Amino acid sequence: MFTKSDVERIKEMGAYLDPAYIADVFKVPVDVIEDVLRGNIQGDEMEPAGKTTLKVVEKARFVRNKTVCAVSPGGGKGKTSVLVSLAILAALRNPTGRPVLAIDLAEFGKMPLHMGFRFDDERIMPSITQCSDNPNQNEIFEYLAVRHPQIDNLYLIPGVKVADMHERIETNIIYRVLEVVQRHFELILVDLPARMDLWDEIVARTDMVLVVVSNNYPDIEGMAQLIPTLKRLGKEQQFLLVVNQNGTTGLKQGMFQRVLAGLCAREMPVDAWLPFESGLSGWLNGTETQHCILNNVESEYASELANLLSKLCPDWNLKTSNKKKSLLSWLRR
Ligand SMILES: Nc1ncnc2c1ncn2[C@@H]1O[C@H](COP(=O)(O)OP(=O)(O)OP(=O)(O)O)[C@@H](O)[C@H]1O
Ligand SMILES: [Mg+2]
Repeated sequence: MFTKSDVERIKEMGAYLDPAYIADVFKVPVDVIEDVLRGNIQGDEMEPAGKTTLKVVEKARFVRNKTVCAVSPGGGKGKTSVLVSLAILAALRNPTGRPVLAIDLAEFGKMPLHMGFRFDDERIMPSITQCSDNPNQNEIFEYLAVRHPQIDNLYLIPGVKVADMHERIETNIIYRVLEVVQRHFELILVDLPARMDLWDEIVARTDMVLVVVSNNYPDIEGMAQLIPTLKRLGKEQQFLLVVNQNGTTGLKQGMFQRVLAGLCAREMPVDAWLPFESGLSGWLNGTETQHCILNNVESEYASELANLLSKLCPDWNLKTSNKKKSLLSWLRR
């Protein structure tokens, strides 16, 4: 019934997933999976004839988690802060409690700083450039992925230590790392390099792209300029638009939407409208002792991110605030 590699895969999955879920993936009764996990089924040496295609389809179903990346029309719009804030929130709020992972592939890696990792002589920062050519699961979990100092189910794969090392990141190692971590983490948030020629293959391996822009006119033009890129990357239907107010002034939401619709010649829904959050710079500059999400998980910034998270992971059934809707329904009464 199972090949040896199926059995191996089921045991790997068994470390993280319920037998009932694995049974659903393999379309077999749950007690068969329990038998495999107990070691009572070893698996056949050969692939059963004619089953190869079916197996590929079945395995693809196993990826129930999400891999998310972020792009922007230019630097400094808030990609890293949005991804990190989402990672923290997701680790705290995902209903399974399964681990969440941030991967830093930027030339100037800022995820460790944003997440609160401090690497020094005591704790040496691992690097994807120091992996073997074909890193196995143990190498990735024991060496590359480091656990957050405060949140047990939050992990980081840090980027390069110095920008010059970036060109040594082999894309096939990135693919291998993604392939392994996608089997184990509930949500994976990837900080992309600024170099667009590196986006194609990485973005193709993600499920959703966050387009992060500021609420100003140049970024509306930037959004219109990004649309052909999203098409080329095959993500025209798989992106969420995040307007991040990283400056204190800018266009109001209604005006922003009207101008955006005019320039793109169609309605373009805004999926998250993030407020200015002074706690972010306070945290990065050391005047705050905690990330703003940990400081206040009920803040307007955190609530808007929770709404975004519920769009990314609708199956989590997060209870999110919808103040505008409840006010409207109250007015309609
Ligand atoms: N909502 C916000 N409120 C206040 N400050 C913000 C907000 N979002 C981002 N910032 C600040 O803006 C700066 C740039 O943010 P961030 O590093 O996340 O941008 P980025 O798009 O990742 O930049 P880069 O292109 O350099 O990677 C940071 O100092 C961050 O704290
Ligand atoms: Mg960044």
